[in-house]
Amino acid sequence: MKATVSALRDRLRTQLADLKMPGALEAIDGILHQVDGGQLSPPAAMVALLDAQIGLRNSRRLQTAMRSSRLPAIKTLADFDFTFQPSVKRDQIDSLHSLGFLDRRENIILLGPPGVGKTHLALSLAVATVESGRRVYYATLAELIASLEEAQQAGTLQHRLKTLGFSTLMIVDEIGYLPISRTGAMLFFQVMARRYERASTILTSNKTFEEWGEIFGDEVMAAALIDRLLHHCHIVNIRGNSYRLRHHADLRSALRGAPAKPKEKGGREAPAS
Ligand SMILES: Nc1ncnc2c1ncn2[C@@H]1O[C@H](COP(=O)(O)OP(=O)(O)OP(=O)(O)O)[C@@H](O)[C@H]1O
Ligand SMILES: [Mg+2]
Repeated sequence: MKATVSALRDRLRTQLADLKMPGALEAIDGILHQVDGGQLSPPAAMVALLDAQIGLRNSRRLQTAMRSSRLPAIKTLADFDFTFQPSVKRDQIDSLHSLGFLDRRENIILLGPPGVGKTHLALSLAVATVESGRRVYYATLAELIASLEEAQQAGTLQHRLKTLGFSTLMIVDEIGYLPISRTGAMLFFQVMARRYERASTILTSNKTFEEWGEIFGDEVMAAALIDRLLHHCHIVNIRGNSYRLRHHADLRSALRGAPAKPKEKGGREAPAS
């Protein structure tokens, strides 16, 4: 009888390997040990075995989705130190992480000087979105425009615009750091016009809205873009010190006087409507 049980266990392992169930295969010995010790009933053991496999499958799916969203780093809300950045309202950020903004197709704009956590918060919202099983596309403005120009040259712009319209969440990071061409600005406008009221976009910028005309090289187009973006939008206006320079108080005060800094920290506030 003992030999039969042992043979059955071996067969079970072979079957799990044959079915390509590595999560279950890894868990099987521990589960059988608990069955032997009377801590798990046979049905509970079967549930535990399948749970182990489902857990591994879900985490692999998550990794694949993370890769395809091209996030430059994994940041989480838990890692964000609110005490360092008191201008960030925890209630607002918590509520955004419940992801209702995606269903309501609202946008989020994170404004503020370098290093205050704009990208961190955009990425933690992206991670939460991917974990909820939805698609995310991340790019800096410069990368997005480069990919649109490439598509235009290859004659696949319409297809690219359609694909970009599909992502439940698009993140456009670093608006304002690199100059963009007029064609680039027009291509970006087309993406945003397509996504308007269809899907949510998170944008980050070190510049105030008043300076966007300069960034896009066209005041009228920038005004039309801002109008669409702000129609259903949450503004997170971060005023504070760079987290990157948190150990360099001397550099922080030197940078405060630097001319490269935005004229005002942040921009006009608009509630989601
Ligand atoms: N409040 C915070 N708590 C923990 N880590 C933070 C906080 N703010 C920023 N960081 C970390 O500091 C670094 C810089 O932050 P982040 O990249 O989000 O800045 P940013 O506002 O996007 O700056 P930039 O405008 O230069 O792109 C990141 O590694 C980020 O994870
Ligand atoms: Mg950033």
